[in-house]
Amino acid sequence: MRVLYATSEAAPLIKTGGLADVSGALPAALREIGLDCRILIPGYPVVIEKLQATTTVAEFSNLFFNDATGISARLLECRMPGSDTPLYVIDAPEAFTRIGGPYQDANGVDYPDNAQRFSLLSQVAARLASPDSPLDWRPDVLHCNDWQTGLAPAYLRLAGCLTPTVMTVHNLAYQGIFPPDMLSRLNLPASCFGVEGVEYYGNLSFLKAGLYYANHITTVSPTYAEEIQHPQLGMGMQGLLASRRHQLSGILNGIDTGDWNPSSDLHLPCEYHVRAPSGKKRCKRKLQEELGLEAQADAPLFGMIARMAHQKGMDLVLAVADGIVDRGGQIALLGTGDKSIEAAVRELVARHPGKVAALIGYDEGLSHRIEAGSDIFLMPSLFEPCGLNQMYSLRYGSVPIVHATGGLRDTVEDEVTGFVFHEPTPHALWLAVERAFDLYSQKPAWKKMMAAGMNRDFSWEKSALTYQALYQSLLSTTG
Ligand code: ADP
Ligand code: GLC
Repeated sequence: MRVLYATSEAAPLIKTGGLADVSGALPAALREIGLDCRILIPGYPVVIEKLQATTTVAEFSNLFFNDATGISARLLECRMPGSDTPLYVIDAPEAFTRIGGPYQDANGVDYPDNAQRFSLLSQVAARLASPDSPLDWRPDVLHCNDWQTGLAPAYLRLAGCLTPTVMTVHNLAYQGIFPPDMLSRLNLPASCFGVEGVEYYGNLSFLKAGLYYANHITTVSPTYAEEIQHPQLGMGMQGLLASRRHQLSGILNGIDTGDWNPSSDLHLPCEYHVRAPSGKKRCKRKLQEELGLEAQADAPLFGMIARMAHQKGMDLVLAVADGIVDRGGQIALLGTGDKSIEAAVRELVARHPGKVAALIGYDEGLSHRIEAGSDIFLMPSLFEPCGLNQMYSLRYGSVPIVHATGGLRDTVEDEVTGFVFHEPTPHALWLAVERAFDLYSQKPAWKKMMAAGMNRDFSWEKSALTYQALYQSLLSTTG
């Protein structure tokens, strides 16, 4: 079975969040079980510079970009660094060569032509899945991810092509919304601008297009698949999602157990294992040293790594942080994003030198060292489609405290592998923090909880088999 996995990020090439981890790992896991899965990604400069042994396999001359003026783009083929997953890269400098990130410039402002840029990604994905593809290799299934690829199922259907499509929602909060006059500029017919189409509250939404035109919708945990059918977390799409509930499934993400393995992680000062956990103490001491925290072996160290966005519940953490320090705990934070949250974090650090440390920025190595060096991991997200850090934490013996939402609810078991609280309020989080302090002081019980988490299996294989079964069922119903 041939699958084209279209995505706007994939680790280790380009990453802003969990989508990249998933896009880096799932195609490889699908290949492990025998599928011919290949990745399609835009050729941002940071991607192009990491590629090796590329060949040009196609030239497109009639893609839509900027008001009906066609642009030419080359399709490069190579392998994902460090794996044998085939990779198609769209080399279109006019669209993708920018100073800044994949979506925003260096000041955090969205590029004004994001609609055209990601329409281009969607156009190429659709073209490669259609009979007039320039490649000999044609996918049986096109798998799209998040709004950046949402137009691909629309382009395919509107061209009358029946290749089955899957649309995975990694986060419903990002919907790719653009003004209605964009429609013709993206080569979409006026007839698709309606409830039965790409229209969303008077605008055009790339995600809505994907949710409407794809044969099947998946999201990244069973609980989130249920939650998004209701107003509270449906972000305006709940009606459509509920009406498509028979073509909607929640498939839990896995984690890359090669990259995230405390017994072989090169980012750590030393290795450890569930049966030989003593190295974790050294990781803690080294982390305290690295971040300027007091060298206290017995102070419970709370870690948190997150995009600093409202979603991640940083307000809750800020509300309980003084209490954690008063009870003798320490806090290590890593994240970047919303400037007001960053400022509040800086203020917190200034209030508690030696007890609270934060790195405002993006640091892959430090994210591994925080997972390894902390005793407890804070993940009080207001909503969380899946969440990866709580699974990394379980594997690294950093006991997670999570809000009972989305994938957090599906991966952490209260009082067995971590602490789960139900209302996203400072008080409810505080009660969970107190439970963690209490258990931490009972060493045998604490070790038991750590070990229970470290023994959980979050590898991709099971999810890959579920995706395979889904692709098969789509092929048998559409073909
Ligand atoms: P989301 O995709 O919503 O940001 P996830 O938990 O699914 O949340 O994935 C986040 C990923 O990004 C994890 O791999 C996490 O370690 C990483 N990450 C987030 N912020 C940072 C940061 N500041 N530095 C390093 N890694 C980060
Ligand atoms: C999104 C979600 C996160 C999920 C990730 C990968 O960014 O916010 O919960 O783990 O995608 O699917």
